[in-house]
Amino acid sequence: MDRSYLSQCDADSIQLQQLLQTALLSVRSPSVSARDHGSGHTEILNLACGPCREAGALVASFQNEAGISRRSIRITGADIRAAEIEEARSRAAAFKEGGVESEFIVFDCSRLNRLTQLDKAFDFVFLRHQNYWNAPQLWARIFEQGLSRLKEGGILGITSYFDREHDLAIKALKRAGASLLLTVRNPHSRKLPTPGKSVDRHLALFGIVDEAKPEPGKTLITPSTTCSQSPSVPLS
Ligand SMILES: C[S@@+](CC[C@H](N)C(=O)[O-])C[C@H]1O[C@@H](n2cnc3c(N)ncnc32)[C@H](O)[C@@H]1O
Repeated sequence: MDRSYLSQCDADSIQLQQLLQTALLSVRSPSVSARDHGSGHTEILNLACGPCREAGALVASFQNEAGISRRSIRITGADIRAAEIEEARSRAAAFKEGGVESEFIVFDCSRLNRLTQLDKAFDFVFLRHQNYWNAPQLWARIFEQGLSRLKEGGILGITSYFDREHDLAIKALKRAGASLLLTVRNPHSRKLPTPGKSVDRHLALFGIVDEAKPEPGKTLITPSTTCSQSPSVPLS
């Protein structure tokens, strides 16, 4: 693979880490902070992870800033493409010495509820560069599956390449019962050749509205008044 492309990906990863750390700190979920004192792993689920170039950003965000540094980290990634998952596995192997456990699964994330080996809940569910625009119904199901896997007080995060796609994904997540905690435009997002497209252009974080955790495959329509929209956080 092209060297300059790889170093661009590394730079993107550093930007993502900074964006994520700042955002997680600013929403400071009480349950995420409380887990600082708990035992066990911080469980991260990365849906549609592709080759999981975001692994380093995820590990660093949760090791350094999210208030849970004394816990070890376990990343579970899933993508429908086997070759991408193979690459993700080799990438994540580099984190093993740092005590980060990982598991990568080839699976259709819109049917995650059928994956019997994945029977746990997660502190953070992440979808980097969600692809809602391409297949809205499929991605709405993937969002529902992600939300249904959150622990109480857990957070789901998405990043988006495009402005419009980000707005549509936020709306879909709200329809699925998510509460928008924060959405932020990444000021350091790297422009891509397609007009209006850039790397991790937007980040949004969500919690669950009340106890209304959706059953996988079932969309909850919540009144818009229950979905609070926080102002974007200025990041410099
Ligand atoms: C835009 S890429 C993002 C990959 C990675 N998160 C990143 O940012 O580099 C979208 C990913 O969604 C995956 N995908 C599409 N449909 C899927 C499905 N039903 N289940 C799991 N993964 C899926 C694709 O294979 C692809 O890796």
